Amino acid sequence: MRAFITGITGQDGSYLAEYLLGLGYDVYGIVRRHSVAEDQQDRIEHIKNHLQVSYGDLSDQSSLERAIVKAQPDEIYNLAAQSHVRVSFDIPQYTAQTNAIGVLNMLDTYKRVAPGAKFYQASSSEMFGLSVDEDGYQRETTSMNPVSPYGCAKVFGYNMVRHYRRAYKLHACNGILFNHESPRRGSNFVTKKVVNAACRIKAGKQKELVLGNIDSHRDWGHSKDYVRAMHMIINEPPDDFVVSTMQTHTIRDMCDIVFTYLGMDYRDYVTQDKRYMRPEELPYLRGDSTKIRTLGWEPEYTFKEMLHEMIEHD
Ligand code: NAP
Ligand code: GDD
Repeated sequence: MRAFITGITGQDGSYLAEYLLGLGYDVYGIVRRHSVAEDQQDRIEHIKNHLQVSYGDLSDQSSLERAIVKAQPDEIYNLAAQSHVRVSFDIPQYTAQTNAIGVLNMLDTYKRVAPGAKFYQASSSEMFGLSVDEDGYQRETTSMNPVSPYGCAKVFGYNMVRHYRRAYKLHACNGILFNHESPRRGSNFVTKKVVNAACRIKAGKQKELVLGNIDSHRDWGHSKDYVRAMHMIINEPPDDFVVSTMQTHTIRDMCDIVFTYLGMDYRDYVTQDKRYMRPEELPYLRGDSTKIRTLGWEPEYTFKEMLHEMIEHD
């Protein structure tokens, strides 16, 4: 089996590549051109010799075509994105080019050069925005009411995948993943920022931690559990699936767990500043993943185990 992954240098792409290599797949992917080539492949350094990687970018359709023709994939995972919600308010057009038009570029290339393959799109719980069902969960049927350029662009990609599936009878599916973290999480996402700061405070290298809204709720899982779900979803009849832990915590709860593990009280160190607030906030996420759980998927990591692993790593 041959898999093609965009976003292979990212958190999820690196774990997915590892997982698929473990299943015996040949794994292909694209990387972007960076000015400092040395650290751009840090997350895949340990498996680099087992991967076939070429330069490419979601905004350059010719590069996608070359890479997909070369890979002749059975499975295509489109994980590449400008994945930071706060940053999407600063660079909305770039975010839309990558997260919306980039998905269309991928789908169109897929349809033309590899229509026999299966296609997975990295959709997001951020698409639900302000919508919550009466029982306090978001699920596959919950309406989408996004509150960020990132969320709006992801809704476009999600709908395009559904449209291509129906119109051209392609095996294209969406995983609607709730937040997921790991030691490989980018340093400006809130879990990694808190873990990193708490470790530095413990070591006497930092005095305080400045955050934005610490009362919003997120449903946080572990990236390793979620890449297993991606592989399961793409190998089902084409459909859309929520992936979540079905539990929710505030940023405050998360700070409490991290600082307590290191023998400190977060209230002595955490302050808030409006520079980390968003023009429009998404206050509450909690996913109902019953649909994928009926296929046998469930997370192996608890919330605390995931945070403890991140702390030990730092
Ligand atoms: P990440 O660590 O930020 O990785 C994003 C990847 O996309 C990186 O490899 C990045 O390359 C690549 N990329 C960005 N723009 C690109 C472009 N124009 N062309 C080609 N590659 C590009 O994100 P992640 O956490 O692994 O998330 C993976 C996907 O799942 C994303 O689509 C994200 O939006 C979505 N998602 C994530 C979560 C979550 O909680 N993690 C939840 C739901 C959905 P560089 O290394 O060169 O920057
Ligand atoms: N990043 C960040 N930095 N977030 C903060 C901070 C801070 O200093 N202070 C408070 N927060 C709050 C944010 O306002 C948000 O409510 C929550 O912490 C989580 O923020 P992030 O970790 O940046 O993640 P996100 O929920 O915005 O987006 C992530 O999850 C989405 C799925 O719901 C990303 O991984 C997206 O790519 C993904 O689609």
